[in-house]
Amino acid sequence: DTVPLLPGAPSEVWRYDGALVDGPANTLAPINASYPGPLIRLCRGQRVRARLENRLPEDTTVHWHGLHVPPDVDGQPRLPIKPGENMSVTFDVRDRAGLYWYHPHPHGPDGGRVGFQSYAGLAGPLLIEDDIERGLELPDGDQQLILILQDRSFADDNALRYMDGMGAMMARMQGFLGDRVLVNGRPPQTRDVATRPYRLRILNGSNARIYKLAWSDGRPVTVLGTDGGLLAKPQRLRYVTLAPAQRIDVWVDLSDAQIGQRLSLVSDSYRAGMMGGMGGMGAMMGRSALPAGARFDLLGLRVTDRARDGRSLPQNLDPELSPPSVTRTTPIRRFEFGMRMMRGFSINERQFEGAKVADDEIVALGDTEIWEFVNDTMMPHPMHVHGLQFAVVERRRMTDRRGWPDLDSGLVDAGLLDTVLVLPGERVRIALTFKDFEGLYIYHCHNMEHEDNGMMRYYRVR
Ligand code: C2O
Ligand code: CU
Ligand code: CU
Repeated sequence: DTVPLLPGAPSEVWRYDGALVDGPANTLAPINASYPGPLIRLCRGQRVRARLENRLPEDTTVHWHGLHVPPDVDGQPRLPIKPGENMSVTFDVRDRAGLYWYHPHPHGPDGGRVGFQSYAGLAGPLLIEDDIERGLELPDGDQQLILILQDRSFADDNALRYMDGMGAMMARMQGFLGDRVLVNGRPPQTRDVATRPYRLRILNGSNARIYKLAWSDGRPVTVLGTDGGLLAKPQRLRYVTLAPAQRIDVWVDLSDAQIGQRLSLVSDSYRAGMMGGMGGMGAMMGRSALPAGARFDLLGLRVTDRARDGRSLPQNLDPELSPPSVTRTTPIRRFEFGMRMMRGFSINERQFEGAKVADDEIVALGDTEIWEFVNDTMMPHPMHVHGLQFAVVERRRMTDRRGWPDLDSGLVDAGLLDTVLVLPGERVRIALTFKDFEGLYIYHCHNMEHEDNGMMRYYRVR
């Protein structure tokens, strides 16, 4: 467990407990209290000390997703905590206020265990606060809801099921899709709310599912921030496309609502290439009962109380937001995705090779570069880079969408991101600056089954 922390105070010790077993062995009831992992609250400028105890029967790591930390505390696959062993890590919180998260990152000779271990419950939210955010007096307390979206499958006895049988083969290509969606480890709920504004902090903690977040009454989604914290100004979109590992910070104002009024946050339907369209054949091969692109509810809000709240949506959020800036001479590094029949996806024809770094995967400390992700495959790939937050500088459609035509107007490319969705047929350019720390980091697809099957590489800052 963790407790809210004061600036400068050391963080609480927390530990992984209980055994993990493959297949239908973990029933949901006993793990509900800590499924997903507990919320960790940190303040910018604080020093964190964590002692990580591995009580699992296999290697694990703890990766602080989105945080700008030195390589040796980044929880990378080359630094596993062995069963029964401990690791202590210390780092300073240099990141902007935002919703981040933590999850395991082990990768052995037979592939990664990120998908399985995260699925089994070793992932949780990490909230950073800072003075800029505090100054805005955004809704907090019970007016701030943290929502972790994860799709899961259950056996008849309510045991969690990961990948088995034909489904495993299918999931290797498309990623795991569960039969139902859980919000904070529970079936979606309806909450009683009052006539005032709310702030929703949403993490897509799913292995592979992409959400198309919208309001049931058609009102626009008002976005305050993304992975790396607040935007310069709020944005309004008809819907928000949230890829695995991404976060979105949403403002919703119910000040004018009537008592008894209801509003739902839904994931709206979209067309999803072969993942959605395989019909009976797909079902036979283990397609989920809730295919990609299905519509479902995530959160119900029922207005039950009147409240006066002086808050209104700030017109400016973070005036100091400074994404890496590029010029016409900023060097461009190109990464092309490919598919290897039955062996998963590749980046520039390579798959994961442990800490091995190729000549074209070395960057210079202090440099700003453009990385160009080219997706000529049939699947979307949410690309994540460790150790920093980047800015999207260009998104271009190269070919058709290969059966994924519906998600592009919900992509929030503003602000700072650590994960960017590259849809089939797209080329996306991001600007990154490699600051402060030398050494090895990784970049990979955050579809956890793609990552576990090799769509991951190390890069070196030198
Ligand atoms: Cu969530 Cu390698 O990261
Ligand atoms: Cu990460
Ligand atoms: Cu991928």
